[in-house]
Amino acid sequence: MDKFFNTAGPNKPEMHYTLDPLHRWDLEEVLTLIRQNKYFVLHAPRQTGKTTSMLALRDYLNDQGEYIALYTNIEPAQVAREDVELGIRAVMGAIASRLKWDAKSSLLYDEWTNILHKFGAEQALNEMLSFWAANSSKPIVLLLDEVDALVGDTLISLLRQIRAGYNNRPAGFPATIVLCGVRDVRDYRILPDKNKAVITGGSAFNIKAQSLRLGNFNQIDVRQLYSQHTEVTGQIFEDDIFELVYDFTGGQPWLVNALAGGLQQFERKPGQKPPSPGLFFNKPKKASSSEGTPIWIN
Ligand SMILES: Nc1ncnc2c1ncn2[C@@H]1O[C@H](COP(=O)(O)OP(=O)(O)O)[C@@H](O)[C@H]1O
Ligand SMILES: [Mg+2]
Repeated sequence: MDKFFNTAGPNKPEMHYTLDPLHRWDLEEVLTLIRQNKYFVLHAPRQTGKTTSMLALRDYLNDQGEYIALYTNIEPAQVAREDVELGIRAVMGAIASRLKWDAKSSLLYDEWTNILHKFGAEQALNEMLSFWAANSSKPIVLLLDEVDALVGDTLISLLRQIRAGYNNRPAGFPATIVLCGVRDVRDYRILPDKNKAVITGGSAFNIKAQSLRLGNFNQIDVRQLYSQHTEVTGQIFEDDIFELVYDFTGGQPWLVNALAGGLQQFERKPGQKPPSPGLFFNKPKKASSSEGTPIWIN
Protein backbone atom coordinates (compact mmCIF):
# COMPACT_ATOMS: atom_id res chain seq x y z
CA MET A 1 0.00 0.00 0.00
CA ASP A 2 1.17 3.54 -0.77
CA LYS A 3 2.26 5.59 2.21
CA PHE A 4 0.15 8.56 3.20
CA PHE A 5 0.12 11.52 5.59
CA ASN A 6 -1.40 10.26 8.82
CA THR A 7 -3.90 12.28 10.83
CA ALA A 8 -5.46 9.51 12.92
CA GLY A 9 -3.44 8.33 15.89
CA PRO A 10 0.23 7.40 16.17
CA ASN A 11 2.35 7.07 13.04
CA LYS A 12 3.45 3.70 11.74
CA PRO A 13 6.58 4.36 9.68
CA GLU A 14 5.82 1.42 7.38
CA MET A 15 2.43 2.98 6.49
CA HIS A 16 2.84 6.72 6.98
CA TYR A 17 5.29 9.42 5.92
CA THR A 18 7.20 9.77 9.18
CA LEU A 19 10.09 11.69 10.64
CA ASP A 20 12.35 9.42 12.64
CA PRO A 21 10.37 9.29 15.93
CA LEU A 22 13.47 8.47 17.95
CA HIS A 23 15.12 11.72 16.95
CA ARG A 24 12.21 13.99 17.85
CA TRP A 25 13.94 14.20 21.23
CA ASP A 26 17.56 13.87 22.33
CA LEU A 27 17.90 10.09 22.07
CA GLU A 28 21.28 10.06 23.81
CA GLU A 29 19.78 11.89 26.78
CA VAL A 30 16.89 9.41 26.94
CA LEU A 31 19.24 6.43 26.75
CA THR A 32 21.46 7.91 29.46
CA LEU A 33 18.46 8.29 31.76
CA ILE A 34 17.56 4.66 31.08
CA ARG A 35 21.12 3.44 31.65
CA GLN A 36 21.07 5.28 34.98
CA ASN A 37 17.77 3.61 35.95
CA LYS A 38 16.04 6.97 36.16
CA TYR A 39 12.30 7.60 36.22
CA PHE A 40 11.21 10.51 34.05
CA VAL A 41 8.32 12.33 32.41
CA LEU A 42 7.63 13.01 28.73
CA HIS A 43 5.00 15.64 28.12
CA ALA A 44 3.63 17.70 25.23
CA PRO A 45 0.25 18.90 23.96
CA ARG A 46 -2.05 16.46 22.17
CA GLN A 47 -1.18 15.33 18.63
CA THR A 48 2.51 16.14 18.96
CA GLY A 49 3.88 12.62 18.50
CA LYS A 50 4.35 11.40 22.08
CA THR A 51 2.81 7.98 21.49
CA THR A 52 4.64 7.56 18.19
CA SER A 53 7.96 8.30 19.89
CA MET A 54 7.23 6.05 22.90
CA LEU A 55 6.37 3.13 20.63
CA ALA A 56 9.57 3.70 18.67
CA LEU A 57 11.57 3.79 21.90
CA ARG A 58 9.98 0.52 23.01
CA ASP A 59 10.90 -1.16 19.73
CA TYR A 60 14.40 0.28 19.78
CA LEU A 61 15.08 -0.98 23.31
CA ASN A 62 13.66 -4.41 22.61
CA ASP A 63 15.75 -4.69 19.43
CA GLN A 64 18.88 -3.74 21.36
CA GLY A 65 18.09 -6.61 23.70
CA GLU A 66 19.43 -5.22 26.95
CA TYR A 67 16.01 -4.47 28.45
CA ILE A 68 12.48 -5.65 28.15
CA ALA A 69 10.49 -2.56 27.21
CA LEU A 70 6.71 -2.44 27.48
CA TYR A 71 4.36 0.34 26.37
CA THR A 72 0.93 0.62 28.01
CA ASN A 73 -1.78 3.22 27.57
CA ILE A 74 -3.54 3.56 30.92
CA GLU A 75 -6.29 5.88 29.75
CA PRO A 76 -8.96 3.18 30.36
CA ALA A 77 -8.52 3.92 34.08
CA GLN A 78 -9.89 7.42 33.49
CA VAL A 79 -13.51 6.37 33.98
CA ALA A 80 -12.66 5.22 37.51
CA ARG A 81 -12.30 8.85 38.57
CA GLU A 82 -11.64 8.73 42.38
CA ASP A 83 -12.37 4.99 42.71
CA VAL A 84 -8.94 3.53 43.49
CA GLU A 85 -10.18 -0.06 43.30
CA LEU A 86 -11.50 0.39 39.78
CA GLY A 87 -8.63 2.58 38.61
CA ILE A 88 -5.76 0.39 39.80
CA ARG A 89 -7.58 -2.69 38.50
CA ALA A 90 -7.72 -1.05 35.05
CA VAL A 91 -4.03 -0.09 35.16
CA MET A 92 -2.93 -3.57 36.26
CA GLY A 93 -5.12 -5.29 33.68
CA ALA A 94 -3.77 -3.03 30.92
CA ILE A 95 -0.12 -3.77 31.80
CA ALA A 96 -0.73 -7.53 32.13
CA SER A 97 -2.55 -7.58 28.80
CA ARG A 98 0.18 -5.69 26.92
CA LEU A 99 2.83 -8.00 28.38
CA LYS A 100 0.87 -10.98 27.11
CA TRP A 101 0.09 -9.68 23.62
CA ASP A 102 3.15 -7.52 22.86
CA ALA A 103 5.90 -9.36 24.74
CA LYS A 104 4.23 -12.79 24.55
CA SER A 105 4.58 -13.43 28.28
CA SER A 106 1.65 -14.66 30.37
CA LEU A 107 3.51 -14.01 33.62
CA LEU A 108 1.27 -11.16 34.77
CA TYR A 109 -1.82 -12.15 32.83
CA ASP A 110 -2.16 -15.31 34.90
CA GLU A 111 -1.32 -13.69 38.22
CA TRP A 112 -2.60 -10.13 38.39
CA THR A 113 -6.11 -10.81 39.67
CA ASN A 114 -4.70 -13.03 42.44
CA ILE A 115 -2.31 -10.26 43.42
CA LEU A 116 -5.15 -7.73 43.44
CA HIS A 117 -7.29 -10.01 45.56
CA LYS A 118 -4.51 -10.71 48.02
CA PHE A 119 -3.12 -7.21 48.51
CA GLY A 120 -5.96 -4.85 47.64
CA ALA A 121 -5.80 -1.94 45.22
CA GLU A 122 -3.64 0.32 47.42
CA GLN A 123 -0.73 -2.14 47.23
CA ALA A 124 -1.42 -4.49 44.34
CA LEU A 125 0.18 -2.49 41.53
CA ASN A 126 3.41 -2.26 43.50
CA GLU A 127 3.29 -6.00 44.17
CA MET A 128 2.61 -6.83 40.53
CA LEU A 129 5.54 -4.73 39.31
CA SER A 130 7.80 -6.29 41.97
CA PHE A 131 6.68 -9.77 40.97
CA TRP A 132 7.34 -8.99 37.31
CA ALA A 133 10.84 -7.60 37.95
CA ALA A 134 11.78 -10.50 40.22
CA ASN A 135 10.79 -12.95 37.48
CA SER A 136 12.23 -11.07 34.53
CA SER A 137 15.54 -12.12 32.99
CA LYS A 138 16.20 -8.51 31.93
CA PRO A 139 15.70 -5.11 33.56
CA ILE A 140 12.32 -3.62 32.72
CA VAL A 141 11.56 -0.30 31.04
CA LEU A 142 7.87 0.53 31.49
CA LEU A 143 6.39 3.29 29.33
CA LEU A 144 3.04 4.48 30.70
CA ASP A 145 1.04 6.68 28.33
CA GLU A 146 -1.88 9.05 29.08
CA VAL A 147 -1.04 9.02 32.78
CA ASP A 148 -2.72 12.37 33.38
CA ALA A 149 -6.02 10.97 32.15
CA LEU A 150 -6.22 9.68 35.74
CA VAL A 151 -7.42 12.01 38.47
CA GLY A 152 -7.54 12.35 42.24
CA ASP A 153 -7.02 9.36 44.52
CA THR A 154 -6.50 6.97 41.62
CA LEU A 155 -3.60 9.04 40.28
CA ILE A 156 -2.15 9.50 43.78
CA SER A 157 -2.29 5.76 44.40
CA LEU A 158 -0.55 5.02 41.09
CA LEU A 159 2.24 7.53 41.79
CA ARG A 160 2.74 6.38 45.37
CA GLN A 161 2.84 2.71 44.51
CA ILE A 162 5.50 3.44 41.92
CA ARG A 163 7.44 5.61 44.34
CA ALA A 164 7.30 2.87 46.99
CA GLY A 165 9.02 0.38 44.69
CA TYR A 166 11.61 2.78 43.29
CA ASN A 167 14.38 1.84 45.75
CA ASN A 168 14.15 -1.82 44.76
CA ARG A 169 14.93 -1.25 41.08
CA PRO A 170 16.29 -2.75 38.90
CA ALA A 171 16.19 -6.31 40.31
CA GLY A 172 12.99 -5.88 42.34
CA PHE A 173 11.11 -3.19 40.39
CA PRO A 174 11.17 -1.74 36.84
CA ALA A 175 14.56 -0.16 36.15
CA THR A 176 12.95 2.80 34.42
CA ILE A 177 9.38 4.05 34.33
CA VAL A 178 8.42 6.83 31.92
CA LEU A 179 5.22 8.75 32.60
CA CYS A 180 3.81 10.27 29.44
CA GLY A 181 1.00 12.78 29.19
CA VAL A 182 -0.06 16.28 28.31
CA ARG A 183 1.12 17.81 31.57
CA ASP A 184 4.27 17.63 33.61
CA VAL A 185 3.79 15.63 36.79
CA ARG A 186 3.75 18.69 39.06
CA ASP A 187 0.71 19.95 37.17
CA TYR A 188 -1.33 16.76 37.41
CA ARG A 189 -4.87 17.49 38.52
CA ILE A 190 -4.97 16.06 41.99
CA LEU A 191 -7.73 17.35 44.18
CA PRO A 192 -7.31 17.72 47.94
CA ASP A 193 -7.76 14.34 49.63
CA LYS A 194 -10.34 13.55 52.30
CA ASN A 195 -8.25 15.30 54.96
CA LYS A 196 -8.19 18.41 52.78
CA ALA A 197 -4.43 18.32 52.47
CA VAL A 198 -3.35 19.52 49.03
CA ILE A 199 -1.29 16.94 47.22
CA THR A 200 0.66 17.79 44.12
CA GLY A 201 1.82 15.35 41.48
CA GLY A 202 5.34 16.58 42.15
CA SER A 203 5.29 15.60 45.82
CA ALA A 204 3.64 12.23 45.18
CA PHE A 205 6.29 11.50 42.57
CA ASN A 206 9.40 13.22 43.91
CA ILE A 207 11.61 10.49 42.41
CA LYS A 208 11.36 12.07 38.95
CA ALA A 209 14.79 12.75 37.48
CA GLN A 210 13.72 14.92 34.59
CA SER A 211 10.85 16.17 32.45
CA LEU A 212 11.35 15.99 28.72
CA ARG A 213 9.14 17.94 26.38
CA LEU A 214 8.44 17.04 22.79
CA GLY A 215 8.48 20.09 20.53
CA ASN A 216 6.85 20.95 17.19
CA PHE A 217 8.49 20.39 13.80
CA ASN A 218 10.89 23.03 12.50
CA GLN A 219 11.01 24.15 8.86
CA ILE A 220 13.60 21.55 7.95
CA ASP A 221 11.37 18.85 9.44
CA VAL A 222 8.41 20.05 7.35
CA ARG A 223 10.54 19.96 4.20
CA GLN A 224 11.86 16.52 5.02
CA LEU A 225 8.40 15.09 5.71
CA TYR A 226 6.88 16.50 2.51
CA SER A 227 9.89 15.35 0.49
CA GLN A 228 9.10 11.75 1.41
CA HIS A 229 5.91 12.13 -0.62
CA THR A 230 7.78 13.70 -3.54
CA GLU A 231 10.25 10.82 -3.58
CA VAL A 232 7.48 8.23 -3.78
CA THR A 233 5.07 9.96 -6.19
CA GLY A 234 7.13 12.53 -8.03
CA GLN A 235 4.62 15.18 -6.99
CA ILE A 236 6.58 18.35 -6.39
CA PHE A 237 5.87 20.93 -3.73
CA GLU A 238 6.81 24.49 -4.73
CA ASP A 239 9.71 25.76 -2.67
CA ASP A 240 7.73 28.52 -0.97
CA ILE A 241 5.18 26.00 0.31
CA PHE A 242 7.42 24.90 3.16
CA GLU A 243 7.62 28.34 4.68
CA LEU A 244 3.90 28.92 4.21
CA VAL A 245 3.02 25.62 5.84
CA TYR A 246 5.30 26.45 8.71
CA ASP A 247 3.72 29.89 9.10
CA PHE A 248 0.20 28.45 9.06
CA THR A 249 0.85 25.54 11.40
CA GLY A 250 3.71 26.66 13.63
CA GLY A 251 5.11 23.20 12.92
CA GLN A 252 2.37 21.48 14.93
CA PRO A 253 2.86 17.87 13.76
CA TRP A 254 -0.77 16.90 13.20
CA LEU A 255 -1.53 20.14 11.33
CA VAL A 256 1.53 19.73 9.14
CA ASN A 257 0.28 16.27 8.14
CA ALA A 258 -3.32 17.37 7.71
CA LEU A 259 -2.31 20.21 5.43
CA ALA A 260 -0.10 17.94 3.35
CA GLY A 261 -2.92 15.43 3.04
CA GLY A 262 -5.19 18.18 1.77
CA LEU A 263 -2.64 19.55 -0.69
CA GLN A 264 -1.92 16.11 -2.00
CA GLN A 265 -5.56 15.53 -2.95
CA PHE A 266 -5.55 18.13 -5.72
CA GLU A 267 -2.92 16.74 -8.04
CA ARG A 268 -1.44 13.32 -7.84
CA LYS A 269 0.39 13.07 -11.14
CA PRO A 270 4.20 13.07 -11.18
CA GLY A 271 5.61 16.48 -11.99
CA GLN A 272 2.34 18.30 -11.29
CA LYS A 273 2.40 20.76 -8.48
CA PRO A 274 -0.13 21.04 -5.70
CA PRO A 275 -1.60 24.51 -5.05
CA SER A 276 -0.33 26.85 -2.40
CA PRO A 277 -1.63 26.04 1.08
CA GLY A 278 -3.03 29.59 1.11
CA LEU A 279 -5.88 28.23 -0.99
CA PHE A 280 -7.21 26.36 1.99
CA PHE A 281 -7.25 29.35 4.22
CA ASN A 282 -8.47 31.88 1.68
CA LYS A 283 -11.22 29.78 0.16
CA PRO A 284 -12.17 27.28 2.83
CA LYS A 285 -15.78 26.78 1.66
CA LYS A 286 -14.83 25.94 -1.90
CA ALA A 287 -12.01 23.71 -0.80
CA SER A 288 -14.06 21.75 1.69
CA SER A 289 -17.18 21.33 -0.45
CA SER A 290 -15.70 20.34 -3.78
CA GLU A 291 -12.39 18.80 -2.90
CA GLY A 292 -13.18 16.82 0.20
CA THR A 293 -10.50 18.56 2.24
CA PRO A 294 -10.42 17.97 6.00
CA ILE A 295 -13.06 19.82 8.03
CA TRP A 296 -10.59 21.41 10.42
CA ILE A 297 -9.77 24.03 7.78
CA ASN A 298 -13.06 25.77 8.48
N1 LIG B 1 7.36 11.05 13.75
C1 LIG B 1 6.34 11.67 13.13
N2 LIG B 1 6.43 12.03 11.83
C2 LIG B 1 5.42 12.65 11.21
N3 LIG B 1 4.24 12.94 11.80
C3 LIG B 1 4.07 12.60 13.08
C4 LIG B 1 5.10 11.93 13.82
N4 LIG B 1 4.66 11.70 15.07
C5 LIG B 1 3.41 12.19 15.12
N5 LIG B 1 3.03 12.74 13.94
C6 LIG B 1 1.73 13.41 13.66
O1 LIG B 1 1.12 13.68 14.90
C7 LIG B 1 -0.12 12.97 15.03
C8 LIG B 1 -0.31 12.49 16.45
O2 LIG B 1 0.67 11.52 16.80
P1 LIG B 1 0.63 10.80 18.23
O3 LIG B 1 1.88 10.02 18.37
O4 LIG B 1 -0.67 10.08 18.42
O5 LIG B 1 0.69 12.10 19.19
P2 LIG B 1 0.32 12.28 20.72
O6 LIG B 1 0.55 10.96 21.40
O7 LIG B 1 1.26 13.35 21.19
O8 LIG B 1 -1.13 12.73 20.77
C9 LIG B 1 -0.06 11.87 13.99
O9 LIG B 1 -1.37 11.50 13.57
C10 LIG B 1 0.73 12.55 12.88
O10 LIG B 1 -0.11 13.44 12.15
MG1 LIG C 1 -0.80 9.76 22.48
